[in-house]
Amino acid sequence: MQEQKVNPIGVFDSGVGGLTVVRALMERLPFEDIIYFGDTARVPYGVKSVSTITTFATQIAEFLLNHQVKVLIIACNTIAAVAAQVVQDLSSVPVLNVINAGARAAVNITHNNQIGILGTPATINSNAYIRAIHEVDNRIRVITQACPLFVPLVEEGWLDHPVTRMTALEYLKPVLAENIDTLVLGCTHYPLLKPILSEVAGKSVQLVDSAITISNETASLLTKHKIANLKSREPVYRFYVTDVPLRFQTIGERFLGRTLEHVKVVNW
Ligand code: DGL
Repeated sequence: MQEQKVNPIGVFDSGVGGLTVVRALMERLPFEDIIYFGDTARVPYGVKSVSTITTFATQIAEFLLNHQVKVLIIACNTIAAVAAQVVQDLSSVPVLNVINAGARAAVNITHNNQIGILGTPATINSNAYIRAIHEVDNRIRVITQACPLFVPLVEEGWLDHPVTRMTALEYLKPVLAENIDTLVLGCTHYPLLKPILSEVAGKSVQLVDSAITISNETASLLTKHKIANLKSREPVYRFYVTDVPLRFQTIGERFLGRTLEHVKVVNW
Protein backbone atom coordinates (compact mmCIF):
# COMPACT_ATOMS: atom_id res chain seq x y z
CA MET A 1 0.00 0.00 0.00
CA GLN A 2 2.84 2.37 0.96
CA GLU A 3 4.41 1.75 -2.41
CA GLN A 4 1.13 2.45 -4.19
CA LYS A 5 0.69 5.73 -2.32
CA VAL A 6 3.79 7.23 -3.90
CA ASN A 7 3.00 5.97 -7.40
CA PRO A 8 1.81 8.53 -9.94
CA ILE A 9 -1.68 9.12 -11.29
CA GLY A 10 -1.85 8.21 -15.01
CA VAL A 11 -3.90 10.50 -17.25
CA PHE A 12 -4.39 10.06 -20.97
CA ASP A 13 -5.96 11.78 -23.92
CA SER A 14 -5.85 11.90 -27.71
CA GLY A 15 -3.69 15.05 -27.58
CA VAL A 16 -3.18 18.13 -25.45
CA GLY A 17 -6.86 18.55 -24.48
CA GLY A 18 -6.58 16.28 -21.44
CA LEU A 19 -4.32 18.88 -19.85
CA THR A 20 -7.56 20.54 -18.68
CA VAL A 21 -8.00 17.47 -16.47
CA VAL A 22 -4.35 17.56 -15.36
CA ARG A 23 -4.80 21.20 -14.40
CA ALA A 24 -7.83 20.37 -12.24
CA LEU A 25 -5.95 17.42 -10.66
CA MET A 26 -2.91 19.61 -9.85
CA GLU A 27 -5.19 22.04 -8.03
CA ARG A 28 -7.28 19.41 -6.23
CA LEU A 29 -4.43 16.99 -5.35
CA PRO A 30 -1.28 19.12 -5.03
CA PHE A 31 1.03 16.39 -3.63
CA GLU A 32 0.32 13.72 -6.24
CA ASP A 33 2.74 12.89 -9.05
CA ILE A 34 1.12 12.78 -12.49
CA ILE A 35 2.11 11.08 -15.75
CA TYR A 36 0.27 12.41 -18.76
CA PHE A 37 0.10 10.77 -22.17
CA GLY A 38 -1.15 12.74 -25.19
CA ASP A 39 -1.30 10.99 -28.55
CA THR A 40 -0.38 14.14 -30.47
CA ALA A 41 0.73 12.23 -33.58
CA ARG A 42 -2.71 10.71 -34.10
CA VAL A 43 -5.07 13.40 -32.76
CA PRO A 44 -7.97 14.04 -33.41
CA TYR A 45 -9.76 10.88 -32.29
CA GLY A 46 -13.23 12.47 -32.38
CA VAL A 47 -13.69 11.80 -36.08
CA LYS A 48 -12.15 8.27 -36.11
CA SER A 49 -13.77 4.82 -35.99
CA VAL A 50 -14.47 2.79 -32.86
CA SER A 51 -11.90 0.09 -33.71
CA THR A 52 -9.12 2.61 -34.39
CA ILE A 53 -9.80 4.51 -31.16
CA THR A 54 -9.91 1.23 -29.20
CA THR A 55 -6.53 0.08 -30.59
CA PHE A 56 -4.90 3.42 -29.75
CA ALA A 57 -6.46 3.52 -26.26
CA THR A 58 -5.21 0.01 -25.48
CA GLN A 59 -1.63 0.95 -26.44
CA ILE A 60 -1.67 4.05 -24.26
CA ALA A 61 -3.24 2.32 -21.23
CA GLU A 62 -0.58 -0.41 -21.40
CA PHE A 63 2.16 2.23 -21.61
CA LEU A 64 0.91 3.94 -18.45
CA LEU A 65 0.40 0.68 -16.57
CA ASN A 66 4.04 -0.18 -17.36
CA HIS A 67 4.93 3.09 -15.61
CA GLN A 68 3.33 1.82 -12.37
CA VAL A 69 0.44 4.26 -12.16
CA LYS A 70 -1.88 3.75 -9.18
CA VAL A 71 -4.99 4.90 -11.04
CA LEU A 72 -5.81 5.44 -14.72
CA ILE A 73 -7.84 8.45 -15.75
CA ILE A 74 -9.37 8.56 -19.21
CA ALA A 75 -9.40 12.33 -19.73
CA CYS A 76 -10.60 12.08 -23.33
CA ASN A 77 -14.37 11.96 -23.77
CA THR A 78 -14.01 10.22 -27.13
CA ILE A 79 -11.89 7.39 -25.66
CA ALA A 80 -14.24 7.13 -22.68
CA ALA A 81 -17.22 6.96 -25.03
CA VAL A 82 -16.00 4.03 -27.11
CA ALA A 83 -13.21 2.22 -25.22
CA ALA A 84 -13.84 2.63 -21.46
CA GLN A 85 -14.76 -1.05 -21.01
CA VAL A 86 -11.71 -2.29 -22.93
CA VAL A 87 -9.41 -0.16 -20.76
CA GLN A 88 -11.20 -1.28 -17.62
CA ASP A 89 -10.80 -4.96 -18.60
CA LEU A 90 -7.05 -4.73 -19.18
CA SER A 91 -6.25 -2.55 -16.16
CA SER A 92 -4.87 -3.84 -12.88
CA VAL A 93 -5.61 -0.50 -11.18
CA PRO A 94 -8.87 1.48 -10.80
CA VAL A 95 -10.02 3.37 -13.92
CA LEU A 96 -12.00 6.61 -13.92
CA ASN A 97 -13.41 8.36 -16.94
CA VAL A 98 -14.75 11.82 -17.72
CA ILE A 99 -18.08 10.58 -19.08
CA ASN A 100 -19.20 8.83 -15.90
CA ALA A 101 -18.01 11.80 -13.86
CA GLY A 102 -19.78 14.36 -16.06
CA ALA A 103 -22.99 12.33 -16.28
CA ARG A 104 -23.23 11.91 -12.49
CA ALA A 105 -22.57 15.62 -11.93
CA ALA A 106 -25.23 16.62 -14.48
CA VAL A 107 -27.86 14.36 -12.88
CA ASN A 108 -27.14 15.99 -9.50
CA ILE A 109 -27.45 19.49 -10.94
CA THR A 110 -30.59 19.30 -13.11
CA HIS A 111 -33.90 20.42 -11.62
CA ASN A 112 -36.09 20.02 -14.70
CA ASN A 113 -34.59 16.68 -15.85
CA GLN A 114 -33.50 18.06 -19.24
CA ILE A 115 -29.77 17.81 -19.88
CA GLY A 116 -27.83 18.88 -22.97
CA ILE A 117 -24.57 17.21 -24.02
CA LEU A 118 -21.95 18.70 -26.36
CA GLY A 119 -19.18 16.46 -27.73
CA THR A 120 -17.20 15.25 -30.73
CA PRO A 121 -19.04 13.21 -33.40
CA ALA A 122 -17.59 9.93 -32.03
CA THR A 123 -18.72 10.75 -28.48
CA ILE A 124 -22.22 11.78 -29.55
CA ASN A 125 -22.68 8.83 -31.97
CA SER A 126 -21.71 6.36 -29.23
CA ASN A 127 -24.67 7.44 -27.03
CA ALA A 128 -22.33 6.89 -24.07
CA TYR A 129 -23.56 9.98 -22.19
CA ILE A 130 -27.20 8.95 -22.61
CA ARG A 131 -26.40 5.48 -21.23
CA ALA A 132 -24.38 6.88 -18.32
CA ILE A 133 -27.15 9.35 -17.39
CA HIS A 134 -29.92 6.76 -17.71
CA GLU A 135 -27.97 4.36 -15.48
CA VAL A 136 -28.42 6.93 -12.73
CA ASP A 137 -31.93 8.13 -13.64
CA ASN A 138 -33.81 6.96 -16.73
CA ARG A 139 -36.50 9.67 -16.49
CA ILE A 140 -34.04 12.32 -17.67
CA ARG A 141 -34.32 13.66 -21.21
CA VAL A 142 -30.93 14.00 -22.86
CA ILE A 143 -30.42 16.25 -25.89
CA THR A 144 -27.09 15.74 -27.66
CA GLN A 145 -25.19 17.85 -30.15
CA ALA A 146 -21.96 17.05 -32.00
CA CYS A 147 -19.72 20.12 -32.31
CA PRO A 148 -16.87 19.10 -34.65
CA LEU A 149 -15.69 22.69 -35.23
CA PHE A 150 -14.99 23.46 -31.57
CA VAL A 151 -11.74 21.42 -31.29
CA PRO A 152 -9.95 23.21 -34.18
CA LEU A 153 -11.26 26.59 -32.99
CA VAL A 154 -9.83 26.03 -29.50
CA GLU A 155 -6.52 24.77 -30.87
CA GLU A 156 -6.37 27.89 -33.03
CA GLY A 157 -6.71 29.91 -29.82
CA TRP A 158 -9.97 31.52 -30.95
CA LEU A 159 -11.46 31.39 -27.49
CA ASP A 160 -13.09 34.81 -27.70
CA HIS A 161 -13.58 35.26 -31.41
CA PRO A 162 -16.67 36.23 -33.44
CA VAL A 163 -16.37 33.03 -35.51
CA THR A 164 -16.42 30.91 -32.34
CA ARG A 165 -19.40 32.86 -30.98
CA MET A 166 -21.34 32.33 -34.23
CA THR A 167 -20.45 28.64 -34.25
CA ALA A 168 -21.58 28.28 -30.63
CA LEU A 169 -24.88 30.01 -31.46
CA GLU A 170 -25.51 27.56 -34.33
CA TYR A 171 -24.64 24.44 -32.31
CA LEU A 172 -26.53 25.50 -29.21
CA LYS A 173 -29.71 26.72 -30.95
CA PRO A 174 -31.42 23.28 -31.19
CA VAL A 175 -30.23 22.25 -27.72
CA LEU A 176 -31.45 25.42 -26.01
CA ALA A 177 -34.81 25.13 -27.82
CA GLU A 178 -35.41 22.00 -25.68
CA ASN A 179 -35.47 24.00 -22.44
CA ILE A 180 -32.42 22.34 -20.85
CA ASP A 181 -31.18 23.63 -17.48
CA THR A 182 -27.82 21.74 -17.52
CA LEU A 183 -25.21 21.52 -20.28
CA VAL A 184 -22.32 19.05 -20.17
CA LEU A 185 -19.05 20.14 -21.82
CA GLY A 186 -18.39 16.63 -23.12
CA CYS A 187 -14.96 17.20 -24.65
CA THR A 188 -11.54 18.07 -23.22
CA HIS A 189 -11.40 21.28 -25.25
CA TYR A 190 -14.73 22.80 -24.29
CA PRO A 191 -13.82 24.05 -20.78
CA LEU A 192 -11.71 26.67 -22.59
CA LEU A 193 -14.87 27.90 -24.27
CA LYS A 194 -16.72 28.31 -20.97
CA PRO A 195 -17.01 32.14 -21.18
CA ILE A 196 -18.56 32.05 -24.68
CA LEU A 197 -20.73 29.00 -23.98
CA SER A 198 -22.17 30.38 -20.76
CA GLU A 199 -22.86 33.71 -22.48
CA VAL A 200 -24.68 31.95 -25.35
CA ALA A 201 -26.50 29.46 -23.08
CA GLY A 202 -27.67 32.17 -20.67
CA LYS A 203 -28.03 32.29 -16.90
CA SER A 204 -30.73 29.61 -16.69
CA VAL A 205 -28.32 26.91 -17.92
CA GLN A 206 -25.59 25.47 -15.72
CA LEU A 207 -22.42 24.20 -17.40
CA VAL A 208 -20.81 20.95 -16.25
CA ASP A 209 -17.02 20.89 -16.55
CA SER A 210 -15.97 17.24 -16.30
CA ALA A 211 -12.34 18.21 -15.60
CA ILE A 212 -13.35 19.58 -12.22
CA THR A 213 -15.78 16.75 -11.54
CA ILE A 214 -13.24 14.02 -12.28
CA SER A 215 -10.61 15.62 -10.05
CA ASN A 216 -13.10 15.39 -7.16
CA GLU A 217 -13.87 11.75 -8.03
CA THR A 218 -10.14 10.96 -8.13
CA ALA A 219 -9.68 12.47 -4.67
CA SER A 220 -12.53 10.32 -3.27
CA LEU A 221 -11.21 7.18 -4.97
CA LEU A 222 -7.67 7.64 -3.60
CA THR A 223 -9.05 8.15 -0.10
CA LYS A 224 -11.37 5.13 -0.40
CA HIS A 225 -8.54 2.84 -1.57
CA LYS A 226 -6.14 4.40 0.99
CA ILE A 227 -3.63 5.24 -1.73
CA ALA A 228 -3.62 9.05 -1.47
CA ASN A 229 -0.24 10.74 -1.12
CA LEU A 230 -0.96 13.08 1.78
CA LYS A 231 2.60 14.19 2.55
CA SER A 232 3.36 17.81 1.73
CA ARG A 233 5.92 17.57 -1.06
CA GLU A 234 6.90 18.95 -4.46
CA PRO A 235 5.12 16.74 -7.01
CA VAL A 236 6.73 15.39 -10.18
CA TYR A 237 4.88 15.88 -13.45
CA ARG A 238 5.89 14.01 -16.60
CA PHE A 239 4.37 14.49 -20.05
CA TYR A 240 4.64 11.97 -22.87
CA VAL A 241 3.52 12.73 -26.41
CA THR A 242 3.81 10.85 -29.70
CA ASP A 243 4.78 13.94 -31.69
CA VAL A 244 5.74 17.50 -30.82
CA PRO A 245 3.81 19.73 -33.17
CA LEU A 246 5.15 23.20 -33.75
CA ARG A 247 2.75 24.92 -31.40
CA PHE A 248 2.49 22.13 -28.82
CA GLN A 249 4.11 24.17 -26.05
CA THR A 250 1.87 27.20 -26.59
CA ILE A 251 -1.33 25.20 -26.90
CA GLY A 252 -0.40 22.97 -23.97
CA GLU A 253 0.32 25.89 -21.68
CA ARG A 254 -3.06 27.41 -22.55
CA PHE A 255 -4.76 24.19 -21.43
CA LEU A 256 -2.57 23.71 -18.39
CA GLY A 257 -2.52 27.32 -17.22
CA ARG A 258 1.20 27.06 -16.39
CA THR A 259 4.54 26.28 -18.02
CA LEU A 260 4.81 22.89 -19.62
CA GLU A 261 8.12 21.20 -18.85
CA HIS A 262 9.53 17.66 -19.05
CA VAL A 263 7.83 16.75 -22.34
CA LYS A 264 9.18 13.53 -23.84
CA VAL A 265 8.39 12.10 -27.28
CA VAL A 266 7.54 8.39 -27.32
CA ASN A 267 8.41 6.35 -30.39
CA TRP A 268 6.17 3.31 -30.34
N1 DGL B 1 -9.91 14.73 -26.52
C1 DGL B 1 -11.06 14.66 -27.41
C2 DGL B 1 -12.34 14.56 -26.57
O1 DGL B 1 -12.37 14.87 -25.39
C3 DGL B 1 -11.12 15.86 -28.34
C4 DGL B 1 -10.02 15.88 -29.39
C5 DGL B 1 -10.12 14.74 -30.35
O2 DGL B 1 -11.05 14.70 -31.19
O3 DGL B 1 -9.28 13.85 -30.28
O4 DGL B 1 -13.34 14.15 -27.09
